[in-house]
Amino acid sequence: MYSKLFVVLVVYLSVAESNDIINGYTNARSKKIYSELKEAGPALWKRDEEVVVNTTYNDVISAIYVTDLREDHNGEAYIESGGVGLRSVVIRLKSPSILRGYKFQVDVYATPMGEGLFHKGGGYYGDTQYPRNVNRTNKMKTLCVAILLSLAVFASCQSHDLAIGQATYGDVIIYKADEVKYGFPLITRTTIIQYPEPGQNNYAIIKAIYIKDNNKDGSGGFPTIGAGGVGQRFVKIKLKSQRGNGLNFTITIYGRYV
Ligand SMILES: *[C@@H]1O[C@H](CO)[C@@H](O)[C@H](O)[C@H]1NC(C)=O
Ligand SMILES: *[C@@H]1O[C@H](CO)[C@@H](O)[C@H](O)[C@H]1NC(C)=O
Ligand SMILES: *[C@@H]1O[C@H](CO)[C@@H](O)[C@H](O)[C@H]1NC(C)=O
Repeated sequence: MYSKLFVVLVVYLSVAESNDIINGYTNARSKKIYSELKEAGPALWKRDEEVVVNTTYNDVISAIYVTDLREDHNGEAYIESGGVGLRSVVIRLKSPSILRGYKFQVDVYATPMGEGLFHKGGGYYGDTQYPRNVNRTNKMKTLCVAILLSLAVFASCQSHDLAIGQATYGDVIIYKADEVKYGFPLITRTTIIQYPEPGQNNYAIIKAIYIKDNNKDGSGGFPTIGAGGVGQRFVKIKLKSQRGNGLNFTITIYGRYV
């Protein structure tokens, strides 16, 4: 009983003002599959890089940690697609502005699929995320299509959309809301959205999170997942505007009652 508690390292942290990503859990079976220091020097353009991490054969991603190592912690890091519970993640790293670089430590952990990813309360997922008897070829195809689609969406317009996971038949909308904040000169607006709200319970497993940027001209904010997410029962979403601009997002969360 207690040994299990010791084995499980639950990470519920969210870091106040930085854009660090702390997603998922590590346990005794987790292995670090990716660990890199990503650094970019200042340049006349905004530095920007995409980090793709894929698991090997039978593993799914169990935790993603991106830590801004610079003193002012104002680099941007967000998950573009994939994530915890899936076999692939695409992380975008950006410098805050021109003439600025960044320095991020990126660590990704994986756990064998089907062993379940344990978390506080003893709940687990893994089987719900990926039924074992699903045809592997089809599953990989679906994942590839999902990744390509989200990359295509990202590339074809200037909206800062974030789509994680994929809603399928049987999933229901458990949360939908617009989040609008007006811009003020020189000010960065930030909103944290927690689902469920503190003190409330959500019994559904989150299957997909779609965050749509309604500002199509590139002036919109950036969404990130601060904690929780697909495969879990809670999520904390952070929306951060660009300096001097507002934000206008539509957030839709799909879940499944199991
Ligand atoms: C898996 O799907 C592929 C493509 O649809 C098919 O060719 C293959 O026979 C299937 N394999 C099994 C074990 O069902
Ligand atoms: C990761 O997987 C995707 C599709 O699943 C593939 O297109 C990409 O080349 C892979 N990247 C690496 C670095 O293995
Ligand atoms: C936010 O986006 C919605 C959908 O595009 C739009 O109807 C609404 O007017 C926008 N609000 C602001 C304040 O720009």
